[in-house]
Amino acid sequence: MLNPHAAGGLLKTWQSILGYRNPTMLLFSLWSLFILDVATASVTVYGQIPLGITSAASPTATVAAAYNDTVLQPPPVPDPAPATSFTLTLQSVNTSVSSGLSIPIKGTFYGFSVEMSVITQLFGTNSSFVQVPLLNLLANIQERAGAVHVRIGGNTQEFAYYVPTLPENRAISKEKADTNNPTQTPAVIYTMDLFYLLSNISSLVNVKWYIGKFPALCSPSSSLARQSSGDNLLGVQVGNEPDLYSAHQHRNSSYSPQNYANEFGELVAALAADVNAPVKSNLIGPSVSGTWTPEMVWDTGFISQYTDSLTALSVEHYPTDNCFPIYGIGVFHDPQTEFSDYLNHTSSVALCAPYLNSTAIAQAAGKPFLMFETNSASCGGFPGISDSFGGALWALDYGLQMAYSNFSGAMLHVGGQNVFYNPFTAPPTNVSKYYEWTVGAVYYSALISAEVFGKTNTSQIIDLHGNDGNIYTPQYAIYENGAVARVALFNYITDPTGASNYTATISIAGGTVPSSVQVKYFLSDSVSTKNNITWAGQTLGTARNVDGRFKGDMNVVTIACNTGANTCLIPVPAPAFALVFLTPEEDIATVTFSTSVYTNTANTATVAASVLATSNGMSGKDWELGSTSPGSNKNGVLRGYHANFAGAVVTALALIICIELALGQ
Ligand SMILES: *[C@@H]1O[C@H](CO)[C@@H](O)[C@H](O)[C@H]1NC(C)=O
Ligand SMILES: *[C@@H]1O[C@H](CO)[C@@H](O)[C@H](O)[C@H]1NC(C)=O
Ligand SMILES: *[C@@H]1O[C@H](CO)[C@@H](O)[C@H](O)[C@H]1NC(C)=O
Ligand SMILES: *[C@@H]1O[C@H](CO)[C@@H](O)[C@H](O)[C@H]1NC(C)=O
Ligand SMILES: *[C@@H]1O[C@H](CO)[C@@H](O)[C@H](O)[C@H]1NC(C)=O
Ligand SMILES: *[C@@H]1O[C@H](CO)[C@@H](O)[C@H](O)[C@H]1NC(C)=O
Repeated sequence: MLNPHAAGGLLKTWQSILGYRNPTMLLFSLWSLFILDVATASVTVYGQIPLGITSAASPTATVAAAYNDTVLQPPPVPDPAPATSFTLTLQSVNTSVSSGLSIPIKGTFYGFSVEMSVITQLFGTNSSFVQVPLLNLLANIQERAGAVHVRIGGNTQEFAYYVPTLPENRAISKEKADTNNPTQTPAVIYTMDLFYLLSNISSLVNVKWYIGKFPALCSPSSSLARQSSGDNLLGVQVGNEPDLYSAHQHRNSSYSPQNYANEFGELVAALAADVNAPVKSNLIGPSVSGTWTPEMVWDTGFISQYTDSLTALSVEHYPTDNCFPIYGIGVFHDPQTEFSDYLNHTSSVALCAPYLNSTAIAQAAGKPFLMFETNSASCGGFPGISDSFGGALWALDYGLQMAYSNFSGAMLHVGGQNVFYNPFTAPPTNVSKYYEWTVGAVYYSALISAEVFGKTNTSQIIDLHGNDGNIYTPQYAIYENGAVARVALFNYITDPTGASNYTATISIAGGTVPSSVQVKYFLSDSVSTKNNITWAGQTLGTARNVDGRFKGDMNVVTIACNTGANTCLIPVPAPAFALVFLTPEEDIATVTFSTSVYTNTANTATVAASVLATSNGMSGKDWELGSTSPGSNKNGVLRGYHANFAGAVVTALALIICIELALGQ
């Protein structure tokens, strides 16, 4: 399958993308940078200050993909229609691995994969400026899961390069697009401040990071280690989609899984030889995207050879692509035709099937297996699908199916303004004072999955295949500490007549249903809608109206059960997702940060961004975000660094030391 999610290189690529000829000089400049940073550091988090202009007001705003308003037709009610009443009999206690339960899954299962080029826009300009809506959106998940996992990487990671400083102490800036790369993502340039930025975010919300292997340089002898914010680095991804390296002309056409394994080995050997490398076992690979099967990499002996260095095994995959309209490559996929393929259980089962052998192999090797980058379609997703309520049902089912298939985590990819599938989008620079953020429907999928699995780290999930395995009404049960705790019920059908609403009867074998259960519904009028999406009665708001906090009163439905008959009858509208809590849910706390929180009371009708400030107080209210639209932002001085770096292995080592020192390990 065509998947032009771009790739890049490993060690050799770094030679062409780094510009330092003299490492000694480099370390000197970095050292100066550290001193400067420490002296001027403060954690002030700025909200967006509105200029009295409401969200509907700017007529000049472009309608980028992230705000696309295509609404597709929901597919017709299937014929034959599924039964509208069925019984699910659940074992009260289930600990047997042979019964089909997954391995234990954490609430952090669904995380986000953030394209490097959009970090400035989404995270903040520098380590002193952190985006409040982002913190709120991440905090919502942290409250439910205990933490949030975020991967920094994607197309841009292999084209990123380091410079000692950028104007305004920016953590990241960007350069021209790479013409070998069909997604035309701009190359990014970054400073050490990127790692401080990540570290500072982790000090406010419990975010754990996966870092794409991109070249970085820092001084191992700096005092950074002592300032580290703890154990926030989950792992380092070595190579992004190496199976596409040759297609993207980053390697010659004979580049093979064995070549990848050898390059991985070069890094492992260099790391092992370096006494300064604090951790030598947090690498992640192979992140193949489907052009090579994972088995092709396993067959090189990859896992056994590098088992001591590998913290997880990874793949990346998109179910299909939407490259034709933008790049004229591949075949045209009509979104209206594709829509129905997302709106049934077959999609998620088929997406996971090719990986079942690998998740078993990973379990045998004692390694987590991760879907490192995914979303509804590569090249930005589909208008009308990726950002619809139906798209959110699909992403939730896909996540639960991956968990049932023994994946340990999955990252929903986040791009810039020009993609349809973003879980969240920050406004572009030139309208950031008028508009708030936009949340895509799949953000709710990630949030709900955090509630599905919860905080105990013991949740095991099973696909129930009830209702005669009907593909429009999938259901899962979740066991916690071995006891049945929650039931997840989908209804993929859109039917305003109500004739396709169903009632699931839950019954417990080896026990009795509780006297009542709590149900949270994920609702919208139709699978096509992008607005009026609610989870337990609350919404984050419509496009450009999101500050990351839920609006409205929470509505958790209590349903009385019949303990005599051992039944709970759960109605599920068409369309909807329902999460049934058989045991009382832990309270979800409201968003709080460790620093003092102020609400910006100016113009609360349109913006109520929280403004966090440390004892350093608020200052510097004017700020700007970098644009993420592809294009050029050439800077002769910076480009001067972009040549002829020799010593790729040194760079690799420096990267790992650098991020470990900044993020802790
Ligand atoms: C913002 O920038 C985009 C792209 O450069 C441009 O098309 C648009 O008109 C600008 N909008 C405003 C309000 O200046
Ligand atoms: C961070 O960026 C803002 C502008 O985006 C700038 O005003 C501020 O000085 C920068 N912070 C530091 C510590 O340089
Ligand atoms: C934020 O980043 C600066 C570096 O710019 C660092 O000195 C400071 O300690 C960080 N603050 C927190 C709370 O991590
Ligand atoms: C699973 O993968 C291993 C390693 O590549 C391979 O030897 C085996 O044949 C595969 N099994 C199946 C059922 O595909
Ligand atoms: C997941 O792993 C468990 C434990 O090894 C196994 O019993 C189960 O069959 C696996 N599930 C799938 C769908 O392969
Ligand atoms: C769950 O696992 C995380 C680490 O992945 C750990 O920090 C957390 O304390 C664990 N929670 C429980 C309840 O054991």
